[in-house]
Amino acid sequence: MGPVLVADEITMTYLGGQRSLEALECVSFQVGAGEFLCIVGPSGCGKSTLLLVLGGLVQPTSGKVYIGGELLTAPRRQIGFVFQKANLMPWRTVLRNVTLPLEIKGLKAEEAGQQARELLKLVGLEGFEDAYPHELSGGMEQRVAIARALIHDPAILLLDEPFGSLDALTREHMNLELLRIWQAKRKTVVMVTHSIQEAIFLADRILVMSSRPGHIEATFSVPLHRPRRLEMLYGAEFGVLSKRVRQAIH
Ligand SMILES: Nc1ncnc2c1ncn2[C@@H]1O[C@H](COP(=O)(O)OP(=O)(O)O)[C@@H](O)[C@H]1O
Ligand SMILES: [Mg+2]
Repeated sequence: MGPVLVADEITMTYLGGQRSLEALECVSFQVGAGEFLCIVGPSGCGKSTLLLVLGGLVQPTSGKVYIGGELLTAPRRQIGFVFQKANLMPWRTVLRNVTLPLEIKGLKAEEAGQQARELLKLVGLEGFEDAYPHELSGGMEQRVAIARALIHDPAILLLDEPFGSLDALTREHMNLELLRIWQAKRKTVVMVTHSIQEAIFLADRILVMSSRPGHIEATFSVPLHRPRRLEMLYGAEFGVLSKRVRQAIH
């Protein structure tokens, strides 16, 4: 089977009035079915831009993205997106935040509700269906955002620093939860993070991007077996790889 996602020589230049800004320069890589890929790199190197391009939300200046062998020209239901901020609708309950994409599509509230309930259970929010966003912790909000991204049953999940604003312990817990969901749903995941530790803990493979214009500086395979366990964070293998990844980011 071929790769699920292909980025082929992606270049992105943002055009301003007087000046233009080269954000990405010839970025190429492939992601296999069911793979968990993490992208790390310094702030401003174009990680979010790259993810927007992969999601069909922004057209690159040049280069192409292929999803399942087909050229990507616009956003698709096959792709779910989770951003750093959950961006929930404050006047809608948890359940109705998750059903929103289906309601927009015209699905009956009843049917949409059933799917949303199952996903909320999957992300560990059973019992919070009728809560409002202001009643949730940051970690819970991101769980809702993940459930909402899964509602179309996308083959690919794109995550842009989804746990970046959480405290370290909650983040650790969310990492384990994300692996559980990934394993249960067998999705292909591309996740941007600025945490080397998070990338190694989660990923099968890590792409290191270097500063502007962003390009891929190095690729690492993560040799840790699965399921991943928190004690791996303190193992020798983990330490060695952390150092190598750190050295690849200038
Ligand atoms: N919509 C935009 N218009 C102009 N410049 C942008 C836009 N979005 C991002 N940039 C610039 O492109 C560069 C890469 O940004 P971004 O993709 O957000 O990087 P990262 O996610 O790695 O921090 C930055 O210099 C940023 O200022
Ligand atoms: Mg970013």
